[in-house]
Amino acid sequence: MAGKFISFEGPDGAGKTSVIDALVAELQPVLGDQLVVTREPGGDHFSAKLRQILFDDANKGMDGRTEALLFAADRRHHVVSTIEPALAADKTILCDRYVDSSVAYQGAGRQLGEKEVWDINTFATNGTMPQLTIYFDLPPEVGISRIESHRTDQINRLDEETMNFHHRVHAAYLRLYHQHPQRIRIIDANQPLPEVIADTKRVINHRFADLFSN
Ligand code: TMP
Repeated sequence: MAGKFISFEGPDGAGKTSVIDALVAELQPVLGDQLVVTREPGGDHFSAKLRQILFDDANKGMDGRTEALLFAADRRHHVVSTIEPALAADKTILCDRYVDSSVAYQGAGRQLGEKEVWDINTFATNGTMPQLTIYFDLPPEVGISRIESHRTDQINRLDEETMNFHHRVHAAYLRLYHQHPQRIRIIDANQPLPEVIADTKRVINHRFADLFSN
């Protein structure tokens, strides 16, 4: 497959969405429909329904393995309906969250086991992985306070987990970064947004020569 597959990862409140928006504003005029911007869980109507189930307040007590399998089912659908066709058509994919989110949130956060969650996701993706993952690193306390001050309307069940949960997620992301040094690149998200964007563009250009012209 000839396309470019870039995923974006990090704790809640790391500024992922703002950075992706800035990248899209630059890439869209150049790439047009060769650019695919997508997210997990989400995307089409199938994923939107899964997202509803996952984040419905009525499902607050959902069993952890059920949650992990729903994220993996959503991912499987995403891979076959969006990612693989886009890669086959030589497109550039910017994907907001992918397998690493499940390993960090369900594997470590929910303590289901990082290897176990990795394994169900290998089944789900059949090994389709991004060539590059940008990981926005942020101390959990900073992420949570950003969410509390900026996104009061958007706090979801996972954001509301305990501080220990977010520390486990953070530690797992750092482990993933050390386990996959070729694929995962770390960006310091605890700096002003323009600098985070500039660092991200530099990292992407380093991997995919000159995707950004400035
Ligand atoms: P977001 O759309 O703001 O990134 O929020 C999605 C939430 O879902 C976020 O708290 C991380 C969580 N999540 C998981 O727990 N596991 C996953 O596999 C994915 C993709 C997201």
